[in-house]
Amino acid sequence: MSVSFIKEELPHYIEWRDNLMEASARFAIGESYTGKVVWDASAMPHGLIGGSTGSGKTGLLRCIIHQAIKKHWNISVLDFKGGGDYTTVERQYQDLAKDYGPFIISEAEEARQLLMGLTIEVKGRLAAFKEAGVSNIEEYNARGRERFVPWLLVVDEAAELLDVKPKDKAEKEMYSEIDHYLRTLARLSRAAGVHILMGFIRPSADVLDGQIKNNLLWRVCGYFSDPAASRIVLDSERATELPPEVKGRFIVGEEETQAYYFPVPPIAVEAEDGGEAEREPSAPASPAEQGTT
Ligand SMILES: Nc1ncnc2c1ncn2[C@@H]1O[C@H](COP(=O)(O)OP(=O)(O)O)[C@@H](O)[C@H]1O
Ligand SMILES: [Mg+2]
Repeated sequence: MSVSFIKEELPHYIEWRDNLMEASARFAIGESYTGKVVWDASAMPHGLIGGSTGSGKTGLLRCIIHQAIKKHWNISVLDFKGGGDYTTVERQYQDLAKDYGPFIISEAEEARQLLMGLTIEVKGRLAAFKEAGVSNIEEYNARGRERFVPWLLVVDEAAELLDVKPKDKAEKEMYSEIDHYLRTLARLSRAAGVHILMGFIRPSADVLDGQIKNNLLWRVCGYFSDPAASRIVLDSERATELPPEVKGRFIVGEEETQAYYFPVPPIAVEAEDGGEAEREPSAPASPAEQGTT
């Protein structure tokens, strides 16, 4: 039996700093009573992030996206809630990686096309691995010839995409294709270096198919008052014991964790009164921006 004494409460707020970054496919998530919490996407390729509205799911996803940008990954975000949660990260991303897009998608037809393209990409990568006699992206890239770039696919408020009442036959077909591609990706993409994170307010069986869910191995859950909701994500009721008033407090795996928070950067503060200083300090600036200082 091991007994631990908790001397201090977890902090209620920990701001993200770029020196928290981890190497390769590891993402720094926050702090628990036992130290830094990391998502290792090479060990647990896909994740499910649950929690009631306002628990901090989008905040956590933004922090992970920020890290993926710094790692020069390809990133696609499906955000059907609207409200522009991701517009500021979109700007930061566009400065860096103009070749890969589109970044944020909030139209179902565009989502269908993106997922179709990504499925083709994954199948192409798997075929290339086979030809090269390797079994995954790490081995393939280690050969040092051609490299595949890892890809992060974020589906925030995934129920808005998976639990839709189609208006007509065409829409029905579109949503069933989306569902099909997501299943295929969840099943096939782990070796190919495509990582899926899905956010849900309530990932119940009628919203999230068991086949997709079983592939979302990394589990993160914010506060739920309903024990059944907590069980869906964690197979335990621990999310009901979290302090509901603390934003960004999650159970990650087994650990109560305070997630790092990446503050929303101020919108377009250009030059004049030292606007540069107001930006996120070590954000990658494009050459054009650097020229203005
Ligand atoms: N890790 C965090 N630390 C501190 N505050 C946070 C954190 N994550 C989110 N918040 C705050 O809580 C609010 C709601 O978070 P959000 O991520 O939008 O919740 P959700 O997506 O779960 O509905 C945010 O606007 C932000 O002010
Ligand atoms: Mg949200």
